[in-house]
Amino acid sequence: MDPLQAAHSGPRKKRPRQTGTLMVSSPHDVRFGDLVLFILEKKMGTTRRAFLMELARRKGFRVENELSDSVTHIVAENNSGNDVLEWLQVQNIQASSRLELLDVSWLIECMGAGKPVEMTGKHQLLVRRDYPASPKPGPQKTPSLAVQKISEYACQRRTTLNNCNCIFTNAFEILAENCEFRENESSYVTYMRAASVLKSLPFTIISMKDTEGIPCLGEKVKCIIEEIIEDGESSEVNAVLNDERYQSFKLFTSVFGVGLKTSEKWFRMGFRSLNKIKSDKSLKFTRMQKAGFLYYEDLVSCVTRAEAEAVSMLVKEAVWAFLPGAFISMTGGFRRGKEIGHDVDFLITSPEVTEDEKQQLLHKVISLWEKKGLLLYSDLVESTFEKLKLPSRKVDALDHFQKCFLILKLHHQRVDSDKSPQQGGKTWKAIRVDLVVCPYERRAFALLGWTGSRQFERDLRRYATHERKMMLDNHALYDKTKRIFLKAESEEEIFAHLGLDYIEPWERNA
Ligand code: CTP
Ligand code: MN
Ligand code: MN
Repeated sequence: MDPLQAAHSGPRKKRPRQTGTLMVSSPHDVRFGDLVLFILEKKMGTTRRAFLMELARRKGFRVENELSDSVTHIVAENNSGNDVLEWLQVQNIQASSRLELLDVSWLIECMGAGKPVEMTGKHQLLVRRDYPASPKPGPQKTPSLAVQKISEYACQRRTTLNNCNCIFTNAFEILAENCEFRENESSYVTYMRAASVLKSLPFTIISMKDTEGIPCLGEKVKCIIEEIIEDGESSEVNAVLNDERYQSFKLFTSVFGVGLKTSEKWFRMGFRSLNKIKSDKSLKFTRMQKAGFLYYEDLVSCVTRAEAEAVSMLVKEAVWAFLPGAFISMTGGFRRGKEIGHDVDFLITSPEVTEDEKQQLLHKVISLWEKKGLLLYSDLVESTFEKLKLPSRKVDALDHFQKCFLILKLHHQRVDSDKSPQQGGKTWKAIRVDLVVCPYERRAFALLGWTGSRQFERDLRRYATHERKMMLDNHALYDKTKRIFLKAESEEEIFAHLGLDYIEPWERNA
């Protein structure tokens, strides 16, 4: 057994105290002078602490008996970062930002390596929320350790695709979707905000204590979290999953061109399956829905990154044939680093071309694809953009740029050139593609708006309105106090105008 583990497992068998060999510290050479350790006794116990101190010293580490200003690393066991900070506060010691708070696992790895090992996230004790929660009155020093409160706005949180609270966020997304189907906007927002804040956490919620101080978690939401912690599932989510209306709406809206209104109608008419709907002679379908049914299987199977890259080539070839100087950016989920998506989104812009040339571009691109037999569906929406129009007040407003919603035929060979076309089989996949064209000087706003996620965008606008008295949408940023439009050449500049730290696209998966 590892001696460290043995010491940890405590006095199961009464062993004679090893005072003679371990407790009395003899002078050791310090080999790693930059590090000054202090090992916290709290929850570790005197014996184990003495054992670890002696061991670390023998390995050439400098370990202090008392906490002093020279200490650079505090090592603790079974304590959270907040526990350690609380302890420091009780000692009336100011934690400086250069003080590392580490779990004992770091020290144990150092002992194994015989030298300091790199400190990674798994070693660093997490300090959560607004600490101290309630500063004591009087001339008390507040810890200068940078402890960030979790913001209620997604645009002030970094949300990567590493979601360690899937079990909760999946549940809340199902509940939110059900509210959307029932047009219960306020509950929809409540559940989406809860899912969003949980996605940003660097730790998994394992007890209700972990939810303290996290914004956007109301009573209702906390009850559901508690149930999932205890039972591994939520009865409410299970009820939704078994609900006929939810199941039908989920199925109907999976068809391109079918929204809430159509789903409602079909549900009321008693339809429960797509086959019945497709074969019903009395129903009228829009052009979009006809395409949706025709390419259903391809469209419900997600677009992979390799397919998105192949579409990107297709778009570049076509656009550059007419406007060689055009800038083409892949936006949407793929720009946020997702490996799959329901479509592929592109933003197109170009300096130094006339309005007319730009307006013609999408028309030319579409007719080129049509000639090549690649166009399965297209819906082109002309621009209604006005330069002097104030940004929209609505958080979900659609933008006014010229755009087209397409279904393209992507040949398998364009994705995987090694793949030889199979005899008789279908050699292509139908892919949903969105193209947006914007004026060159608005490209930063359009790029920010089309990168998403939807929740991130909503919170950016909400933040601009409520915290900055500004109005933001996909076209512009307007300062209501100064009554001016704020120009931006890049997304970074927009964040800076809003007084926000820059959040990278892959951190916008809120
Ligand atoms: N968007 C928009 N106006 C629209 C449609 C979309 O501003 N009429 C923005 C949304 O904010 C969204 C982004 O464009 O964040 C991409 O939209 P969408 O393709 O629907 O979502 P993705 O995040 O790309 O998700 P997926 O991977 O499923 O496509
Ligand atoms: Mn998309
Ligand atoms: Mn899209």
